[in-house]
Amino acid sequence: MTSVHRFQQLLQTPEGQPIDRHVLLQAIQARHSVRRFLPNAIDRTTIAILQDHVNRINHYSGLHIQLVLNEPKAFRGIFAYGTFKQVSNYFVMAGPKGEGFKERIGYYGEQLVLLSQILGLNTCWAGLSYTKIPGTYVLESGEAISCYIALGKGETSGVVRKSKTPEQVSSINDHTPEWFRQGVEAALLAPTAINQQKFSFEWIPAISGARPQVKAHKGFSLVGYTQTDLGIAKLHFEIGADKKLFDWTV
Ligand SMILES: Cc1cc2nc3c(=O)[nH]c(=O)nc-3n(C[C@H](O)[C@H](O)[C@H](O)COP(=O)(O)O)c2cc1C
Repeated sequence: MTSVHRFQQLLQTPEGQPIDRHVLLQAIQARHSVRRFLPNAIDRTTIAILQDHVNRINHYSGLHIQLVLNEPKAFRGIFAYGTFKQVSNYFVMAGPKGEGFKERIGYYGEQLVLLSQILGLNTCWAGLSYTKIPGTYVLESGEAISCYIALGKGETSGVVRKSKTPEQVSSINDHTPEWFRQGVEAALLAPTAINQQKFSFEWIPAISGARPQVKAHKGFSLVGYTQTDLGIAKLHFEIGADKKLFDWTV
């Protein structure tokens, strides 16, 4: 897979229809990082839906995401960042290293985050706060693990946190369309490492009947993770703005 990879939303209802945009917007609003979980096992139907999406996402994207269930050790350590409790399910976010790998991890991993939210579960991305447990995942030659996503029924549904404003992360002004504002607002609800929100979105007006374009930029951060953050934020932007109305440009 190279940079020509076309990003694609792959979330489906059990009947095989795309999940309604308003359902996705509700999940975006309701999602917060949750690090403390109840001991409840995830039911079989939910596991089947999650596994089906993992398979389809891997097939389309070339990633090698793995759903690990009933494994309590990966999040048991003491980490510099984030205290986790009773995590026994998670996604291992792996795939072939190379151009665009981390952004793809963000874009497709966040689809699993929003799907989990719709299924009544909670999540937390983890770039640092996990331990790889040998025997719980498989890596093919050339593949790497980029991060984990903790998954389960949370003790709570998390809390609203601080956010930058649309003006701080975009070219929004009185002349930009309403869909651009909605895209930026959805992106501001996206999880980013240490809530850094180092992305920005630029509106490029349509020329002579063509569709308008949007340029997404990743900012600089000493902490890193800006490519993964950008992939996550781009998925949120597409849902908020409605992808039918614009094209991405580089
Ligand atoms: C790529 C990435 C890596 C993250 N790594 C960690 C981590 O190692 N430990 C942790 O506790 N939270 C981690 N987080 C969660 C962020 O701290 C959280 O998303 C951010 O503070 C915003 O809060 P929210 O998710 O509730 O909106 C990570 C998030 C992202 C997107």
